[in-house]
Amino acid sequence: MEPRIAEVIAELEARARRERAGEITEPRMWALHPDAARFLHVLIQAIRATRLLEIGTSFGYSTLWLADATRPNGGRVITCEISAERAAAARETLERAGLADIVEIVVGDAEETIPQLSGPFDFVFIDADKPRYPLFLDLVLPKLLPGSVVVADNILSHAEAVASYVKRVREDPALETITVPIGSGLEITLKVG
Ligand SMILES: C[S@@+](CC[C@H](N)C(=O)[O-])C[C@H]1O[C@@H](n2cnc3c(N)ncnc32)[C@H](O)[C@@H]1O
Repeated sequence: MEPRIAEVIAELEARARRERAGEITEPRMWALHPDAARFLHVLIQAIRATRLLEIGTSFGYSTLWLADATRPNGGRVITCEISAERAAAARETLERAGLADIVEIVVGDAEETIPQLSGPFDFVFIDADKPRYPLFLDLVLPKLLPGSVVVADNILSHAEAVASYVKRVREDPALETITVPIGSGLEITLKVG
């Protein structure tokens, strides 16, 4: 990883630690756990994903990891964020890391913006409004290539809020899925066929 990307990641991880300690209240980043970020970084490189979609950008912490993982394979990331303030923070994060040229930030409610994206995607990371995970999945599934992977965060930390999502991915015969206890719990789902 390039030193300037590692520097921005270290900075955001320090901020996340201060958030967790209650030293920063607003605006919260709610960043992905660093172990989960590293897991996604390995996974994206392993499957050589190049058409990535993220739902829930915040300050761009996870976006940095996604972009850095796909860049060696010429990939690109589209990331959706409802808050203009957080999207602006993410833009600054990505510019400082030198990754802005391979990331498109789409500002607005993902429920409205995803249908406007053409796809196809081969890797999707869902980390936004938890009760709407099933809806986000339904919007992205038609845009997924066979063999694509969908990862959803907070599966163990917010089990009740994401229960309908977990039920949905487990019951769909076109999907194979597993909960991985890293960070806040990741649901890793493969579109079979
Ligand atoms: C948990 S944070 C994302 C953290 C980020 N993935 C990271 O690891 O740095 C969730 C983000 O989703 C955004 N969000 C919530 N509902 C959304 C929606 N319907 N469409 C797009 N973004 C949404 C919030 O504004 C917030 O920034």
